[in-house]
Formats: sequence, C-alpha cells, structure tokens
Amino acid sequence: MVKIAIMGYGVVGSGVVEVMLKNKKSISHKAGEQIEISRILDIREFSDSPMAGRFTSNFEDIINDPEIKIVVETIGGLNPAYDFVRRCLLAGKSVVTSNKELVAAKGDELLALARDRNLNFLFEASVGGGIPILRPLDQCLAANEVFEIAGILNGTTNFILTKMIRDNISFADALNLAQRLGYAERDPLADIGGLDACRKICILASLAFGKHVYPEQVHTQGIQDITLEDVKYADIWGGVIKLIGRARKLEDGRLDCIVVPMILPHASRLAQVNDVFNGILVRGDAIGDVVFYGQGAGKLPTASAVVADIIDEVKHLGARKYLIWESGEPDYVADYLESKSAMMLRLKCDNSQAVKSKLDNMLGVCERVDIENSPSDELVLVTPLITQNRLDEVLKSLSDTSLISRIRIADF
Ligand code: HSE
Repeated sequence: MVKIAIMGYGVVGSGVVEVMLKNKKSISHKAGEQIEISRILDIREFSDSPMAGRFTSNFEDIINDPEIKIVVETIGGLNPAYDFVRRCLLAGKSVVTSNKELVAAKGDELLALARDRNLNFLFEASVGGGIPILRPLDQCLAANEVFEIAGILNGTTNFILTKMIRDNISFADALNLAQRLGYAERDPLADIGGLDACRKICILASLAFGKHVYPEQVHTQGIQDITLEDVKYADIWGGVIKLIGRARKLEDGRLDCIVVPMILPHASRLAQVNDVFNGILVRGDAIGDVVFYGQGAGKLPTASAVVADIIDEVKHLGARKYLIWESGEPDYVADYLESKSAMMLRLKCDNSQAVKSKLDNMLGVCERVDIENSPSDELVLVTPLITQNRLDEVLKSLSDTSLISRIRIADF
C-alpha cells in the first residue's frame, strides 16, 4: 500500500480523484500496489465528496506524515505551490504536478532537488493536457537530435480561433464559450495573451534541448489583435491562423524560441488541429517529423496524465526516473527580431501599386492577397523570408504607409 496526498481539489485535483476511484482496480494492478489517497489539501470543505473526512486545510498534516510518499500538486500558480513542492521534496516525498507555471519557472531547481534525494518529480500533465508528450520526447525519441518543436499548445485560443475561422463568430463570444466549457485559465489573459503557451514551450524546449528556457526569455504575443479580416486574408492566401509556440536550435547552439500567431498553410499537419485540441510537431534527425495530437485541456484528459505519473512514481519509489535539465543562461535564447520568416503584411496606403513596387525592390518580390470588398487603401502582401528588424526598417522608410498587422507564415 502506498499513501499519497493531493494538494488542490479544483478541476484537475477532483478529476484525479475521480479517475483513481473509477479505475481503482486496474490502476493498482498497473502500479503493482494499492494506492490510498490519505489526504487532500484545500481551503474549502467538501462534505458530500466520497473523500470527505480526508480533507485538510493544513499543509503540515501532509508534510509531517512520514507515511505519505507521493504528493500530487494541482493547486496551480507559483504561490504557495512552489513552497509546498519544494518542502515536499526536501522532506523526501516524490511529487507529481500539472502546474506548468511552476515547472516553467522553477523546473531546473526542483528537478535538481529531486535528483539529489533520489526522488521523482514528474509533470506530464503540464504540457498538452492528456497528450503523452514529455515521456515520448525524453524516452522514445532519445536516439534523435531533436532540432525543432512547434505546437498548438493552448486549447482555449485554438478553440477561439477555430470558432472565428469556421463560424465567423466574434472573439469575445468564443472566449465566453471557452470559459463556460472550463478550458480557460482562471485568468483568461494567460490563455489569450500567450503566456500559457509560453510556459509550455519553455518546458518542451528545456526537456528537448537540455537547458532551462525561462518564460521571460521568450517573446510572447497572444491572439487579442487577430481580427476576422486577418482570418479571411489568411484563408484566401491558403492558410489558417493558429497560436504557435516554437523552439528551434540554431547553429551557434542558442535557441530561436517564440510564441506568436502564425499562418499555417492548409497542407500543414498542424493546420488540421481544431477546437480545444492541441498538436505538437517534433522534428528529429532520425525520426523526421512526428506529431502528437489530443485533448490539451479539460478535467479528465489532464487527470489521465497526472494519474499515469502517480502510477510511475509508485513503481519507482526509491529509484530515479528520467527527466533532468540544466539551469539556463541569459543569452541562451536569440533575439526574435533577428529570426527570419515570411510575413503577411496588411498595410494602409493610398497608392498600393507604388508601395508594392517599392517593397518588391527592397524585400524581393512579394505576393499580393486580395479579398472581396477589401478597402481601397489596404494593401496585403506576403513577403519573402525576412527578419522583423529589417522589415520594420524598410516600413519606416515608406512615409506614406502604416502597418495594420504583421503575421508570420509558418514553414512547417
Ligand atoms: N487553459 C489551458 C488551455 C488549459 O486552454 O490549454 C490546459 O493547460
């Protein structure tokens, strides 16, 4: 019998209990041991829960119980989760978490604490909800030099963009619906502003390339400024707009890492990933391209990944599992303004033919995109590969032109 505790009885924590109770027999069989949830930490009372009687609002009841060997953290956020997880590891308890904010900010430190004490710190649910991605990346693809990861990592924004693209419904209405369905973070700004996707690409990049990438090192732009017009231009050009987190290795050893809305050509595998689903493309030198796809948010899909980590930790009590990366460095992530990509530009100008000719001369031939009833003073172009620095310099030299939007075109 292995005793565990759960900290946080919100959407994910209660989902973990639900899955543990529903599949109790097969979970014990797979773990090779009975697993007992002996404590649940929450400030609220749940007297009608099947776990009533095991709730506590005092963390000391968990940390001071030597029989609890594994602690599951599903509180979310940095405080008090960071302090609690750190103290659990220091007290000799292995930890499972679904908390991407915690892992993205403190993963290097917590992994080192676990390693030094022969404990495990697992967080499969922190990226891609129920999609198996961290274990496959670290174990099944271990033979590869991974050189690029690109993903639709946030279900809420993908749901909103899908509604805008397919049903022509407004950003605000789609966000409202996503919140009602329980996909969005407590603070939906973390979703629509790209921070949630940023935390996830940081975890993926840290694991794939072996060195911590901190969220503040990654240029992050959300989908708040994407309009139905942008969606239409992208469609006429032959693509869809998705919020993408991408990390790729540069020749000098640094990373190009960014979270931005991108236009994906319809033929891209990630262009087919819709609604709340996530898709993650991993490129390795032996495997080529491999895509992971599934439900990236929601109670039971996320609980599925948490419970799998619990089973793994029960099987590896007193033995180290995989997962480690070094601390990061200030210059590890290259300046995003120097990263090249093709871009779709929407420009406001009076003489569009003259402006296009000038840009063709300065950037190389650009492709013009027109939609029905587009305003006469609007020029939409797709540029050849260019850095944002160079593009901004060129646009500044055109006094009669202002920028409406600039969206990168994906090369995957
Ligand atoms: N708010 C997140 C999303 C939940 O929409 O993807 C899962 O991390």
